[in-house]
Amino acid sequence: MGTNRLRIMNVVGARPNLMKIAPLIAELRRHDDMEPLLVHTGQHYDYSMSQVFFEQLRIPPPDYNLGVGSGPHYAQTAEIMRQFGDLVQQDRPDLVVVAGDVNSTISCALVAAKEGIPVAHVEAGLRSFDRTMPEEINRILTDTLADFLFTTEESANQNLAHEGAPPTKVFFVGNLMIDSLVRALKIRWESPLRAELGLKGAPYAVLTLHRPANVDNPDQLQSMLEAVAELARRIAVVFPAHPRTARNIEVAGIKTARTWPGGALPGPGLWMMPPASYLDFLDLIAHAVMVITDSGGVQEETTFLGVPCLTCRDNTERPVTVSIGTNRVVGRDPQQLLFAATEVLEDPWRNRARAIRSRPPLWDGRSAERIVRILKEVLQPDRACAAERVPL
Ligand code: UD1
Repeated sequence: MGTNRLRIMNVVGARPNLMKIAPLIAELRRHDDMEPLLVHTGQHYDYSMSQVFFEQLRIPPPDYNLGVGSGPHYAQTAEIMRQFGDLVQQDRPDLVVVAGDVNSTISCALVAAKEGIPVAHVEAGLRSFDRTMPEEINRILTDTLADFLFTTEESANQNLAHEGAPPTKVFFVGNLMIDSLVRALKIRWESPLRAELGLKGAPYAVLTLHRPANVDNPDQLQSMLEAVAELARRIAVVFPAHPRTARNIEVAGIKTARTWPGGALPGPGLWMMPPASYLDFLDLIAHAVMVITDSGGVQEETTFLGVPCLTCRDNTERPVTVSIGTNRVVGRDPQQLLFAATEVLEDPWRNRARAIRSRPPLWDGRSAERIVRILKEVLQPDRACAAERVPL
């Protein structure tokens, strides 16, 4: 480089990485002494899973596109490592930033750590304590390797302390995903999708499902959808389906969800549609009576928006969403889900959730600023000195 600029290589791979890295890149670009680079592993590659998010989140085009695509976990992880390893051999950054818990996160963190390149993990310390989830393995391993552990909620600080992470590595900065959400709300997006669906002013619910535990077993998938279809006799349920979910529904021949034909919804029912763009999805959930999901990020977004969320999983790695009061972890039993959803429709719990106006600490849209300030303090101006302060 020949300058003192810090070269920070930010990694994105899957859809939920994009709203976490977008505000960080934007903030890094405001600093002359920082040089952000962007690597897209290509774990997600459909327009609706990747490119539309780049456009709406105003993420610059990646400096490097690895194009790894899909595959079994072991193969996808190995391929990302191989390609990312080749990349950092050619273009060695001062720091690698990884986000969340997807396969791209652990793959790139592991390569960087072995290459002696410092690693920052955004959204560190979250734990479901369920090692059957691929994401839990990715989280634990990434946190073991990272030099900067940027946390979003108090439970993460506690988990890391309990696991013996050095306190000098842990920085409670808030939630970058909420930075993106705060920016998105300022845009005041008039969603063409909600208008097209004819849902302006109408009550409806939103469903998303993509976890292997819910969608890889056809019986489980079918019974979850049947429970939601029962709810959908009373209220329209909009179901933007992840490609793996849509494919599993098709392969299993499940007919419970009807395919949205386009235009205004013909009536109540469970309506499956392609993945929504970032701004359309936020607009959909912000105005929904309730959201039913197995996503991690959606639990957080509904908490910030004060919308009731039913999480159809046995656990959550984001307990602050439950303690704030917007989220209920209802498990994977379809009858429990239907019971809880009916309660939201009929019970004041819905109104209580909407009335909640307290938000988790530091979920204020300023996490990127905090992260960049910390990176500068620790890594600059004297890197030798920084190495003493943060064991790398
Ligand atoms: C990944 C993450 C998960 C995250 C989710 C968000 C891991 C282990 N899982 O799961 O934590 O919540 O992303 O969406 O990293 N596919 C497409 N087009 C795409 C991407 C995927 O058709 O653009 C299909 C492919 O058939 C692929 C399947 O979806 O095999 C699964 O994709 P993959 O990236 O392996 O995992 P996700 O289920 O998306």
